[in-house]
Amino acid sequence: MMDIRVELTKTPKEKPTDHTKLGFGDIFTDHMFLMNYKKGKGWYDPRIVPYGPLQLDPAAMILHYAQEVFEGMKAYCCEDGMIRLFRPQENFKRLNASNSHVCIPPVDEELVLEGLKKLIEIEKDWVPTAENTSLYIRPFIIATDAHLGVRPSNEYLFVIILSPVGAYYKEGLNPVKIYVETNYVRAVRGGLGMCKTSGNYAASLKAQVVANEQNYTQVLWLDGVERKYIEEVGTMNVFFRIGDEIVTPELRGSILPGITRKSTVELLRHWGYNVSERLISIQEVADAAKDGKLIEAFGTGTAAVISPIGHMKWGDVIMDINNGEIGEISQKLYDTITGIQWGKIEDPFGWTVDVCKK
Ligand code: COI
Repeated sequence: MMDIRVELTKTPKEKPTDHTKLGFGDIFTDHMFLMNYKKGKGWYDPRIVPYGPLQLDPAAMILHYAQEVFEGMKAYCCEDGMIRLFRPQENFKRLNASNSHVCIPPVDEELVLEGLKKLIEIEKDWVPTAENTSLYIRPFIIATDAHLGVRPSNEYLFVIILSPVGAYYKEGLNPVKIYVETNYVRAVRGGLGMCKTSGNYAASLKAQVVANEQNYTQVLWLDGVERKYIEEVGTMNVFFRIGDEIVTPELRGSILPGITRKSTVELLRHWGYNVSERLISIQEVADAAKDGKLIEAFGTGTAAVISPIGHMKWGDVIMDINNGEIGEISQKLYDTITGIQWGKIEDPFGWTVDVCKK
């Protein structure tokens, strides 16, 4: 494995003192991980350097054609003082899956995990300790070739930055209001919907602004062809408890294969619930709500964790779910997943990975 060079900052920043006031994604630590790629040479010079602006040629291809992938992960300060990651191998595997869809060369998953651990160890004093806080990790790759023809870049930069965070939604664990989008679409099968790439998020902004103006937290996307089947919520995957079945949309190529989604399905099956990954139409959910069979709904995501949904609007159809309160399964999932992440309960699945002592 390549050696990872380290250059420490001479001007460390003030760290936030009140961890209960951390929002999401505004504060960054003192160092970052970088690695370059050049065609013919491969990935080279993995290094940890002081956090700071990146120098880019104005013709860098990322700025023009959005050839980019990213990941979202978290490190947790556990009760025993150990800092741990949650299924990080899954994130780097998905990063390489995203890479292959946008023609970015794969990274060595072991090397970047090693680089991440080393970076967190250097930044361990930045890992927040207050309840429901963590160190958010944003690995990403950008195309840096200075070239204006449309083709895959010959040069790339891999970066990992770190940000101490609290809850993603201001609601915290209180149920969010979701606007079912019928006008705009996020992705179509055969496109890049399953890929964690910037364009999917650019495509979501307009609808999100419209939803926010109407006092809704997030948009629920329907499939891009028939506008009939439920896809995802942009920052999270979704689950519905209808009667005795828990349903989440199957992975058909247009939604993100979430790692919290996967953990949720695995946990629910482990507990013996009837879980289906299948096509589910918005009409089916609306009918279930009307018949009193929609017992609960929730989203899953790294940033969002488990986020109960208390209210949905689909055109004129209003669905109030579980009296706007967190449901039994959402609560159980939240307690178990965060319990494993924060080391409050045993990790029977071997999902956590030790980094270092705080
Ligand atoms: C995550 O959950 O980590 C994400 O990447 C979603 C989002 C904040 C874009």
